[in-house]
Amino acid sequence: MTTLTINGETHTIDAPPDMPLLWVLRDIIGLTGTKFGCGIAQCGACTVHLDGEATRSCVLPVAALEGRKITTIEAVGATPAGQKVQKAWREIDVVQCGYCQSGQVMSAAALIAQNANPTDADIDAAMAGNICRCGTYSRIRAAIKQAAKEA
Ligand code: FES
Ligand code: FES
Repeated sequence: MTTLTINGETHTIDAPPDMPLLWVLRDIIGLTGTKFGCGIAQCGACTVHLDGEATRSCVLPVAALEGRKITTIEAVGATPAGQKVQKAWREIDVVQCGYCQSGQVMSAAALIAQNANPTDADIDAAMAGNICRCGTYSRIRAAIKQAAKEA
């Protein structure tokens, strides 16, 4: 059994130790906001926060996560940075198909929480691992800058 802290709640789960967190979130706990894209840490769709850091949950074995604080897209809006990012996302109407967007929001929220005034280079570095097949990159950048103004 593994005990995880997800969005402030404790979950004790019966899963193989090498099961990636993404499978635990979606299939065992039922938090389906975090998406599966590539499964090999190349697209960012599965991004969650691990102790505040943006992390790819598709390659994170659950056994390594006891005692760590996990936040998903379902709860990031309760954090100050997540709230600002989601507000800017709505105002700028960033989303197209939406599939990549929970991962984009999680990476952006981690950036804003750590850097209240990110430069273009900071944004590029923080968001480089989040792929959007719809090409919403310019709106993502604008939304991050708007969220940072409110930080
Ligand atoms: S599904 Fe995890 S990075 Fe693509
Ligand atoms: S909004 Fe469609 S993949 Fe990003």
